[in-house]
Amino acid sequence: MKYDYIIGQTPLDENEKCDLIPSVITRKDLDQLEQENIIEAREWAMRSSILANQNVFSEIFILNLHKRMYGHVWKWAGKYRKSNKNIGVDYYMVRTEFHQLLSDAIYWMQHKTYSMTELAIIFHHRLVKIHLFPNGNGRHARLCADVIIAKYGGKKLTWVGHSSLIKPDAIRKQYIASLREADQGNYDLLIAFAKGKDGLF
Ligand SMILES: Nc1ncnc2c1ncn2[C@@H]1O[C@H](COP(=O)(O)OP(=O)(O)OP(=O)(O)O)[C@@H](O)[C@H]1O
Ligand SMILES: [Mg+2]
Repeated sequence: MKYDYIIGQTPLDENEKCDLIPSVITRKDLDQLEQENIIEAREWAMRSSILANQNVFSEIFILNLHKRMYGHVWKWAGKYRKSNKNIGVDYYMVRTEFHQLLSDAIYWMQHKTYSMTELAIIFHHRLVKIHLFPNGNGRHARLCADVIIAKYGGKKLTWVGHSSLIKPDAIRKQYIASLREADQGNYDLLIAFAKGKDGLF
């Protein structure tokens, strides 16, 4: 299968490509299967019993959510990546950095450092910046943010109405540009984008 990558995506290495579970023939089929798997995971995560009982800021929940999003499609779903990517920390630092993020998030919650909306968006950015998995990090981190807001309240995020954000269009360019601003410590654009304000650039 030919893998085309668009701006701000992480290419798979040859080992990771071999971990495809279904015998998918085209990229379109793969996108479709991933999308169906993600819809199932979103429905699971948004159930009121799950929201009430799961500890969102835990390693178990965050890894399990990725497994539920991609587990029908990829063997590495829910597992930390084992190679370096064009985005993210060195692979051997992933777990340590992730644990640091979880304790930061718990601290922010306890001390009300941010509004819930800001906390969810900053958590999403820190997750993609660490880049836990071989692929699917963006969609996973956006769902994590949506789950945080569904559980704790805050303004529902729309990601400018494009939570899949998989097409290489102007909206995606805005998203990537606002992440790059966030990399420099300026979250204004990303917060505006996630809350749904289009036409920021
Ligand atoms: N400069 C950056 N800083 C932080 N995060 C970034 C940056 N560029 C891209 N990203 C994030 O990395 C994600 C791409 O990683 P990956 O391909 O693993 O996720 P994905 O869910 O498959 O991506 P996509 O959103 O492209 O479908 C983007 O969606 C975005 O969230
Ligand atoms: Mg990707």
